Amino acid sequence: MDLKEKIDKNSLPIHVAVIMDGNGRWAQKKGNQRIFGHKNGVKAVRDTVEGAAELGIKYLTLYAFSTENWNRPKKEVEALMSLLISTINSETDTLIKNNVRLLTIGDIDGLPSGVGKNLKELISKTSNNTGLSLILALNYSSRWEIVNAVKDIITDFQDNPIEINKITNEFFERYLHTKDIPDPDLLVRTSGEYRISNFLVWQIAYTELYFTEVLWPDFRRNDLYEAIINYQQRERRFGKTSEQVN
Ligand code: IPE
Ligand code: IPE
Ligand code: MG
Repeated sequence: MDLKEKIDKNSLPIHVAVIMDGNGRWAQKKGNQRIFGHKNGVKAVRDTVEGAAELGIKYLTLYAFSTENWNRPKKEVEALMSLLISTINSETDTLIKNNVRLLTIGDIDGLPSGVGKNLKELISKTSNNTGLSLILALNYSSRWEIVNAVKDIITDFQDNPIEINKITNEFFERYLHTKDIPDPDLLVRTSGEYRISNFLVWQIAYTELYFTEVLWPDFRRNDLYEAIINYQQRERRFGKTSEQVN
């Protein structure tokens, strides 16, 4: 039986988030430059997106570039940015064909103008698609997002202070980039690193975490299926007892 058939279609995670890690090590293991790993990571993105769309996953968030990644060598950052542009261009037709809606979280205006422009075009071209919502986290970090939310709240209520008891989780979430996107049910990190690296810190409060040794360029839809099968064997209790949730 292939892996896909082992998945219970009635209890799919609605939102899967992925920290795509290990490109550099993948390339170095093969005696190549780190950027070779990033280029090969695109194949993993394509297969994962297709696999998720085919399965009926509603939201897939991919961590593609963190605000901390600007601290990498200039050459690598530049290569990543041009890879982004070429990938956006080469994948446009496939995304449209597969009914995928593209969204982003992060400081898109802080990206080089070519990247921002291409992204905005693709977002508008796919905005009426009704299949998978693919969310690219670009120039994103959670602390940045949360601090920005606080700034926006203060700006909005500068002239008429908000009643303190109106500040609830739901109120605050409206100021995050993920507003209108449900919290991830499952978070996958590749490459054997067991950390969150400033990704969706607020949103993963009750997310199931899954770590795999697979390096991102080797990741394929079957690896996603394995993560989902593992997720489906867990009991999500949200603070309650096992008896209560059964
Ligand atoms: C993930 O792979 C891609 C980005 C962070 C852009 P890395 O480039 O972090 O690869 P490793 O972790 O150094 O192997
Ligand atoms: C996290 O990977 C960011 C992305 C996958 C885009 P990093 O490779 O930047 O994370 P650290 O530095 O190892 O924590
Ligand atoms: Mg890394």
